[in-house]
Amino acid sequence: ELSGHEHYMLKEMQEQPAAAETCLRGRLDERFATARLDGLGLEPRELRSFRRVKILGCGSAYYVGQLGAQLIEELARIPADAEPASEFRYRQPIIEHDTLYVAVSQSGETADTAFAVNEIRRKGGRVIGLVNVVGSTIAREVDGGIYLHAGPEVAVASTKALTNMGLAFALLALHLGRLHDLSHADGQRILRGLKAIPEQIRRILDAEDQVAAAARRIASASSAFYIGRVRGFPVAREGAQKLKEISYVHAEAYQTSELKHGPLALIDEAMPTIAIIPDDELTERNIAAAEQVLARRGPVLAITHEGVELDLPGVESIQVPKNEPELDPILLTIPTQMLAYHAALALGHDIDKPRNLAKSVTVE
Ligand code: BG6
Repeated sequence: ELSGHEHYMLKEMQEQPAAAETCLRGRLDERFATARLDGLGLEPRELRSFRRVKILGCGSAYYVGQLGAQLIEELARIPADAEPASEFRYRQPIIEHDTLYVAVSQSGETADTAFAVNEIRRKGGRVIGLVNVVGSTIAREVDGGIYLHAGPEVAVASTKALTNMGLAFALLALHLGRLHDLSHADGQRILRGLKAIPEQIRRILDAEDQVAAAARRIASASSAFYIGRVRGFPVAREGAQKLKEISYVHAEAYQTSELKHGPLALIDEAMPTIAIIPDDELTERNIAAAEQVLARRGPVLAITHEGVELDLPGVESIQVPKNEPELDPILLTIPTQMLAYHAALALGHDIDKPRNLAKSVTVE
């Protein structure tokens, strides 16, 4: 089944362009500039009535949920946030009828997420699922949802399922947006962006040698920072999580904007910073933050867009193709998977089965 690949994680990363195509197939509605989501199980009238969106998932699924919340706020202008399902279930959550709940899970079997779904339904809330495994517990218990169509994922560290979660959130945000005030032209702009994603992922994966060299340097550190702001922050969180999970190098994600409010104290030659610097309205501020790290002699690796002139001496950069600003985080995440993979490879760890972790946590 590995079909010549050294690890499932590598195979699954490389399957991403095809998996993304499958996720988008039949769901892009050019005529109405929206997403066709037949499985949602909710009428347009009901979808329009939600005043809030609450996203629940665990681990990486929670971080993509943050990315999803941002997408929904930007495209549909509905207040949205994400919370770990594992926390939500234990705090006697208030279930509101004008909130759309979204459960995100690759396996559809994560106990904390399944419990949250149960609790929402028991209290009469509406919940949809973004799930990969067809017919899984969560898929059966939700009101409806969006299947991820990523294909089977074996490696504990999720890659293609996460990318498809990002795409599914983009489809949901577009769909909700078009039921609200998102213009036809903006809908078309997002559709164009979505269509470009599979090919753009291919190009990112081609830069493997460069990423591997950068990863070897990070592997020799005992700790690393991942920084990003707004759209880049979930990317930083997911990047730090991956590095921890499979390379066992301690990593911490911080909002770039918060760096000077504390963690800057930890910067020195031995503490590398991976800075997410998208080409958007915040580029200059992000570059200024990288400068502050450099001024304290911290090594910086930038994950940025083609065409961004960093002009920072000694800073290495991994460049990804530009898409629409709202969709960029989906692509910016891919080099962070590759970094973690190559750091773990350099350190000789069991990449597909990291110590102490399970692919899906189905018990308390
Ligand atoms: C964790 C896994 O325990 O569960 C993560 O280690 C995964 O990789 C998380 O993201 C959630 O799993 P699922 O199947 O609900 O997406």
